[in-house]
Amino acid sequence: MSAKPVVIAIDGPSASGKSSTAQWVAERLGFKHADSGAIYRAATAARLRAGGAKDAAKWTEAEVLDAAKKRVRIVAGERSFTPEIDGKPAEDELRGADVTSCVSAVARMEGVRQWVNEQMRSVAARASIVVDGRDMGTAVFPDAAVKIWLVADPWERARRRLVQTLKRAPTDEEIAEETDRLVHRDAKDAKQSAQAPDAVLLDTTYLTQEEQVDRIVALARTVATRDAASG
Ligand code: C5P
Repeated sequence: MSAKPVVIAIDGPSASGKSSTAQWVAERLGFKHADSGAIYRAATAARLRAGGAKDAAKWTEAEVLDAAKKRVRIVAGERSFTPEIDGKPAEDELRGADVTSCVSAVARMEGVRQWVNEQMRSVAARASIVVDGRDMGTAVFPDAAVKIWLVADPWERARRRLVQTLKRAPTDEEIAEETDRLVHRDAKDAKQSAQAPDAVLLDTTYLTQEEQVDRIVALARTVATRDAASG
């Protein structure tokens, strides 16, 4: 690929497999990976650590930004850029129930969106990167070389999420509950989620993860070849 850092943007609804797919695509292309959702989660966790009510409706944008700027740092690992809180990785906390229930409200704060977007643009200036989120191909990287809008049937997204967390086959009742949670989070995130007009829609309901990754890598290689040919 060219010397200028390349951006591949993978967006889509919650639990569509964006982050795991993005990580794998990045590995195949020798790029780094950055998950914007993890940075929204880190800002939320930082505000939770600052104390007081565990209710995002009671938080002000200034409080969230203050906690995020003081406590969150984006750290370059071998394969990805990830947020640390108070100088340490906090993956379990970021995926926990408290953060998950507050993060959509935090992500609707305009100042927080600007801060997350600055973090994403600053890491993308340093390395070719696969980014994932809801608005990477629209608001943050409108010039991304490849844009993917990753979707899957909600029932299948819920089933995959539960297999990952429970490490066993979930029952239909469990999947139904998770489906209900997912569609409600999608509704809360609708305002900040958008498919770019030039994004490739990839429906993964009937694809294995390897097949999804193969398709995105093939698209990235096609674009690189086309860009090289056009000088
Ligand atoms: O992808 P993930 O579920 O980890 O994202 C957590 C939350 O961050 C989402 O529910 C959404 O509210 C917010 N988000 C966003 N814009 C992005 C990425 C995530 O609003 N680009």
